Amino acid sequence: MSIGSSPTPALLEVSNLSVTLHTARTSVKPVDGVSYRVDEGEVLAIVGESGSGKTILNMAPLSLLPTGLDAEIEGTVKFNGLDILRAPEQQLRKLRGGEIGVIFQDPLSSLNPVRRIGRQIAEVSELHLGMTAAQADKRAAELLALVGLPDPLSRLQQYPHELSGGMRQRVGIAMSIAGEPKLLIADEPTTALDVTVQAQIVELLKDLQRRLQMAIVIITHDFGVVSGMATKVAVMYAGRLSELGPVDEVLMTPVHPYTKGLLGSVPSLNAEIGSKFIGLPGQPPDLSRLIRGCAFTPRCASALQSCGATQPQLLSVPGESSTHVAACPVVINKLTRVMEDV
Ligand SMILES: Nc1ncnc2c1ncn2[C@@H]1O[C@H](COP(=O)(O)OP(=O)(O)O)[C@@H](O)[C@H]1O
Ligand SMILES: [Mg+2]
Repeated sequence: MSIGSSPTPALLEVSNLSVTLHTARTSVKPVDGVSYRVDEGEVLAIVGESGSGKTILNMAPLSLLPTGLDAEIEGTVKFNGLDILRAPEQQLRKLRGGEIGVIFQDPLSSLNPVRRIGRQIAEVSELHLGMTAAQADKRAAELLALVGLPDPLSRLQQYPHELSGGMRQRVGIAMSIAGEPKLLIADEPTTALDVTVQAQIVELLKDLQRRLQMAIVIITHDFGVVSGMATKVAVMYAGRLSELGPVDEVLMTPVHPYTKGLLGSVPSLNAEIGSKFIGLPGQPPDLSRLIRGCAFTPRCASALQSCGATQPQLLSVPGESSTHVAACPVVINKLTRVMEDV
């Protein structure tokens, strides 16, 4: 049984997922044995420094990696019980943009520059919901209104370059929900935007999540986003999860030294939009090298000699809910002793 699993089938269940990327010169493993589940209506935030594997983790199972990347995927990813790693490409194509919506960091990457935005949104509803062109055009206008674009009817006629960055991301969001997804995957949807616009987009996502009852997996560098919309949070370091749990437990009582480092002085549960990770001293490891033991050891103030020897597994955090787990036996053992003493 994977960590945090319960008897009811999950909307998304990732079990022991690993991704190896083969390039001409070398192989790297940016995702290494990752497991988590997302239930209907839940919001999972994935945090971690750049290069920790967050994008590969989410995009590889959907075959959405940049073209030319040779990825070898192991483990299982189930969506509503369907094993999507072994599903035929045709079935995957139906899921992407349909039951699974995707929002990219840069909306320009999902928009066609030479086509009117109305048609681009409408095509998603035609393809995934079987609407006629007329129905889908009407729906596109409704979606633009839903994502807060003023004057939607004339907007439909515009091209991506005629819109500001924030407006384009609203269009990207309209497209991502045009297939009425049960799960939305948002990869740093606000990173490219300035802070006031970021806050508006986060409010929009929160509002849509409530109204449409979608589950969301959001990759973010912003603890304001985590505390403002997530129900649970996964912390990723060098391709592995270092901590996973309910958002209030992870933010208020972080266990893994890496999570503590990321949180730094951010007043966590009240973090405002724009509260980014503090700079941790040191660098994440080079993933093309074999890592023995805990990958965070060289940067960790609590590390013992043993940390560099064996790879730590996720363990339940004593005194917290059973779904709060952390891959740090040093801190967990300390907490266990403290619990036994009281
Ligand atoms: N296009 C690529 N070619 C080769 N390696 C890549 C490529 N994209 C990502 N990687 C490798 O995968 C690791 C994780 O990347 P990524 O998932 O994009 O990180 P994150 O989204 O957490 O910033 C990188 O550190 C790098 O080693
Ligand atoms: Mg990324």
